[in-house]
Amino acid sequence: MKKLFLFIGIISAKFVSAQNQIVLNADKGKDIIDKNIYGHFAEHLGHCIYGGFYVGDSNKTIPHKDGVRLDVIAALKKLKVPVLRWPGGCFADTYHWRDGVGPKKERPSMLNVWWGNVKEDNSFGTNEFLNMCELLGAEPYLSGNVGSGTPQELSDWIKYTTHPNGSSPMTDYRQANGRPNPWKVKFWGLGNEAWGCGGNMKVEYYANIYRQYATFMTNWNNSDKLYRIASGASDDDYHWTEVLMKELPAGMFDALGLHHYSVINWSKKGSATNFSEEEYFTTMKRALQMEELVTKHSAIMDKYDPQKKKHLAVDEWGGWYDVEPGTNGAFLFQQNTMRDAVLAGATLNIFNNHCDRVKMANLAQIINVLQAVILTKEEKIILTPTYHVMEMYNVHQDATMLPVEVTSNKYILGKDTLTSIWASASKDKNGVTHISLVNVDAKQSQPVSININGANYKTVSGRILTSDKLQNYNSFENPNKIVPAVFKGAQLSGSKLNLSIPPFSVVVLELK
Ligand code: AHR
Repeated sequence: MKKLFLFIGIISAKFVSAQNQIVLNADKGKDIIDKNIYGHFAEHLGHCIYGGFYVGDSNKTIPHKDGVRLDVIAALKKLKVPVLRWPGGCFADTYHWRDGVGPKKERPSMLNVWWGNVKEDNSFGTNEFLNMCELLGAEPYLSGNVGSGTPQELSDWIKYTTHPNGSSPMTDYRQANGRPNPWKVKFWGLGNEAWGCGGNMKVEYYANIYRQYATFMTNWNNSDKLYRIASGASDDDYHWTEVLMKELPAGMFDALGLHHYSVINWSKKGSATNFSEEEYFTTMKRALQMEELVTKHSAIMDKYDPQKKKHLAVDEWGGWYDVEPGTNGAFLFQQNTMRDAVLAGATLNIFNNHCDRVKMANLAQIINVLQAVILTKEEKIILTPTYHVMEMYNVHQDATMLPVEVTSNKYILGKDTLTSIWASASKDKNGVTHISLVNVDAKQSQPVSININGANYKTVSGRILTSDKLQNYNSFENPNKIVPAVFKGAQLSGSKLNLSIPPFSVVVLELK
């Protein structure tokens, strides 16, 4: 009999998850979660700009302002998009900004050589983008052409967009093009993926070119400084970061970029919706590698900049799958499932927890491309599960990060394991604490016990993004299949908070 009990004990221990433990250090906050961690990226690629943001100023069926869709702007305002990177991506190093300003009928047309050789008529250019950012309330991040441009061209773009009236022929040109005053453009990228589509450069060469370009990027006064972002490493190319930190003079840059996509296999990416648990596991393994990447790139930066004055800008990240069947392979249009919600939630928790160094991140890409937050089809739009995660998490923007210590169960598949629970926490300007939690496990609910140190909360409320199938998504036929719901499953008792998170779900709790 005794043996039988022991046997039952062993069996149940195998199938019932042990409690995951989190310690919330509510009185140890010191670093701010820069709102720009919740940034986005828009490229002239597929239907991100044309059909996504921009339907043309003569469109009669879709409500717009100067050609920019108002339904998209309204949805993005709810996300509180803080910063938007443009015009690429690979496109940026082929882009000559003068082609996209002035009277539209005089703008030249060309082929978009990176993305399907489709016609680019330049009807959406600098004025359209910067005016759109003002409409959106987002800061622009302009990605300069270093691969095929000139220092003069980049210097002129800065003058055209930001210098005071009457200070150069460029500012006269801006006024002649209908913009009475400068825009505010703080963020400037010097090339994109200089190691690849941005010129196939070696890092030592790029570091020299960077110094040359940066020399001619002029501030217009001392208080509104330009924030210069160097084209950063791909994934775990730590040599790239090391050389840039060594070779770029401190006064010439503010951040290094980093690009990391969660791809199963570049030659066999797999369907965005019809995927197995193995494929989900691999996508998540790639995504969670972000923890190691930001830790190791930061450690290199620490050697040269222990005070963390220089930042890491993860200016491209997200899941990358096969395009939707029947769509142009070069347009990178993919659906977005609960897999993407989990990927976004876990990655944003990583960025929050590394907010001492990571000051910006840009999800690739905002509309109709890769891990988009919005998909459009003529006059219809849908908000993806990733949109909902970004919206639930926007409570962390500019809040003080509260350190959490997580002891998590393992999500096991075959011989491999992943950490199941990913969490981060912050305290906002009104003193309200938010904890965002992700259960990566595809099969098991995870019980979580949170020990609260240094605060005495009276109430807890929450929201959850969950669905009954990992492969579920919002479609044009069923746009609200996955939306956040009220979460009443958290119990607060003194300094203990207990909850259970369903498989592949994202929860945000509010403590007062
Ligand atoms: O986001 C799509 C492409 O991925 C970008 O243009 C490029 O920078 C990256 O390789």
